[in-house]
Order: sequence, then structure tokens, then C-alpha cells
Amino acid sequence: GVVRSSLIDPDGGKLVELIVPEAERDARRAEAARLPPVKIGAVDLEWVHVVSEGWASPLRGFMREHEYLQSLHFNSFRLDDGSLVNMSLPIVLAITDEDKQAIGNAPDVTLVAPGGGFVAILRRIEIYKHNKEERIARTWGTTVSGLPYVEEVISPAGNWLIGGDLEVLEPIKYHDGLDHYRLSPSELRKEFDKRGADAVFAFQLRNPVHNGHALLMNDTRKLLLDMGYKNPILLLHPLGGFIKADDVPLAVRMEQHSKVLEDGVLDPKTTIVAIFPSPMHYAGPTEVQWHAKARLNAGANFYIVGRDPAGMGHPTEKRDLYDPDHGKKVLSMAPGLEKLNILPFKVAAYDTVAKKMSFFDPSRVQDFLFISGTKMRTYARNGENPPDGFMCPSGWKVLVNYYQSLQHE
Ligand code: ADX
Repeated sequence: GVVRSSLIDPDGGKLVELIVPEAERDARRAEAARLPPVKIGAVDLEWVHVVSEGWASPLRGFMREHEYLQSLHFNSFRLDDGSLVNMSLPIVLAITDEDKQAIGNAPDVTLVAPGGGFVAILRRIEIYKHNKEERIARTWGTTVSGLPYVEEVISPAGNWLIGGDLEVLEPIKYHDGLDHYRLSPSELRKEFDKRGADAVFAFQLRNPVHNGHALLMNDTRKLLLDMGYKNPILLLHPLGGFIKADDVPLAVRMEQHSKVLEDGVLDPKTTIVAIFPSPMHYAGPTEVQWHAKARLNAGANFYIVGRDPAGMGHPTEKRDLYDPDHGKKVLSMAPGLEKLNILPFKVAAYDTVAKKMSFFDPSRVQDFLFISGTKMRTYARNGENPPDGFMCPSGWKVLVNYYQSLQHE
């Protein structure tokens, strides 16, 4: 019989899936060959992937202007039934003056992959101005130079945005040996149901898992069991798209995460590891809403958030770009995320007295050590080990190999 899912409903009620059914692909390809071609970049392709699988449900393509304006000004969309869904990052496609000229009055275009090959048809298009300064200022709260997504993606992009409905010609694959980790929201929902989850708690990350992260995840599991859930399942969900140059590459992180599970720091029986295909903006409190909303669409009803989510150091000053507490505060109040249970956590740091990662206790500041990415890199480069209890040794070894390989470049 049919197993009724008890998972949380996706935004808009039904998960958006925009991949053309196999039986129709030949015809749609033939049509794609006749439409004006628009060449897209690697990050644009990541967004096609994200939207095609419904992470941004109910969004059905690249934003048209009315959607862009709602996202930029309200961080949310108002649906026809009056309800609100969160949508804090503009998901837009930029084109050049020449592209716009070549498209003319065509109603539909074909998106062409960076390496050639038809990716998707974009239907009932709308072309509108790309005011980069306004987009950047509203998304990041600053136009300071040195924002990675701005420098690498937005600055080189064209002065127009093109919105429309996506019809994606086949599932997006990367052929990097990690595609089996790229489960779509509907595949994740099936997996949660198969495991009989009565609660799903998601953990977004873009860094290697240290024991402080594990503390947040394991504490959440205990909390959910105390609340009466019988089978809470953890979605360990590393971000797989664009990251800044000094972050650890995806393949290395995936290897590190496997060691953490093999080592039993996290329990493989109650954990699903998958890749979240989104690119990273480093837009702090604005972006953490996107991170949470996407996981709601994948069936998570609990979302863990800690210190400075989606944050980074200020590019030109010696401080964090965002207040490290604002991410969790904003997320707990975010429009359209009321049905998601936000689990805010205090900062974890290395307790030199207990010799393990613990929640920071401000009454004994001197006992705590904050181990940043830069500090990890220094340890690894000098062949030093981080203090005992910071990370499982097999996971640390993966990072040492990576950081040492960098020195030989
Ligand atoms: S993020 O860009 O994905 O947010 P990261 O991988 O560093 O970055 O963090 C993943 C999650 O762990 C986020 O919810 C973040 O707030 C939380 N986190 C990271 N480090 C700490 C820490 N030392 N203490 C508490 N929470 C943390």
C-alpha cells in the first residue's frame, strides 16, 4: 500500500520538479536547437540545478522582475492564497547587451552550458535591468570590495536579468565521483520515509566537521528524543556549489565527513549525508534564511543554527562581516519560516580544562580556545596536531593531506 509521508509540506504545498520527462526529451531538444541560445556560467548552472529539483519551491525558474523585487525588498513571496514563503536570495540570471540584442522579441530561449550542450529552455522570458549596486547592497548590506560571490559572479556579469520558467532537458550531473551524494529534495523525502523518520533535523555546513559541530548535532538529537520523537534523522548537508578560494574543496570535505561517521562521532544509523547543490553567497543573516528554507523543502522540520551562519571575515576590516548572533535571531523571526523549528545554539569552542569542545562559558574566558580555519591551516602546515578532542584523528588526517598538498603547488 501507499505509505503516507508525515514529513513537513514543501513551500507552496507541492514540490516543484522541472526536469523534462524522458519520453519528451528528444522533442524538447529539437525545439531547443531552434531557439536563441544564451550561454550561462558554472554558477548559473548550479542555480539551474537548485531550481530544477525544487529546493526553491514554489519558484519555477529564474526570477522575473516582480519576484526579484519581492525577494530583494521583502525576503519573501506572497502566494495567490495570501500565504508567505521565504525567499531571501535573488535567484537571477544575468545576460549582456549582446545577448539581449540577439534574443530580440523571442518569447523563449535555450540555456547553453559553459562547456556547450543544451541545458534548459527558459519560457515566457522577461528581461529587466540588473542594477548590480542595488542588488549587492540589499543582499549583503554592503558594497565593500572583496565579497567573493560579487567579485567572481556578479561583477563580471551583464547589465540585464532574464527571468522565465525553466524546463530542464536532463538531470544536472557533475561526473566528479560525488553525484551519488546529490540527492534531490524528493529523493531525500523518500529516504526519510524509508527510514521511518518522525523528525528530520538539518545541519548546513561548508567547513570540515569538528567536534563542536558534532556537539550541536548530538545535542539536538537528545533534545528531540526528550521531546518524545522516537526516530529523529539527521541530514548532514554540506554545501556543494560555489565557495570562496580559501574554503576546503567539496571532495576533501566529503572524505572528511565520511571519516567522522566511520569514527562514530556521528551515528551512521541515524544520519544521512548528502550534498546541497547551492552556491554560497556569504551573505550571513540574509543567506541563512535561504539555507533553512531549502531544507524545509527537502523535508526537514528542525534546523540547527549556531555562530555566524553563512558569515565570513570582513574583507577589509579586522572583524566579522556580520554580528555572529544575528543569523540565529533573524532566522527565528524570518517571514515564511514560521512552520520550521529553529534550534539556535551558543558558540562552541575548545575547552582546555575539559580537553574537549564545549559550549563557551563567558565566566571562564581564559579556558577557551577558538580554532578558526586559518588556525587549522597553520597547524596542518606546521605538521602540528590540533588539541586532543578537537576533531577525530582520521578526519584531521584528511585535512592535513589537503593543506600540505597546497604547499607543493
Ligand atoms: S556555514 O557557512 O555553513 O554556516 P560552517 O560550516 O562554519 O559555515 O557552519 C555550519 C553551522 O555550524 C552553522 O549553523 C554555524 O552557525 C554553526 N557553527 C560553526 N562553528 C560554530 C561554533 N564554533 N559554535 C557554534 N556553532 C557553530
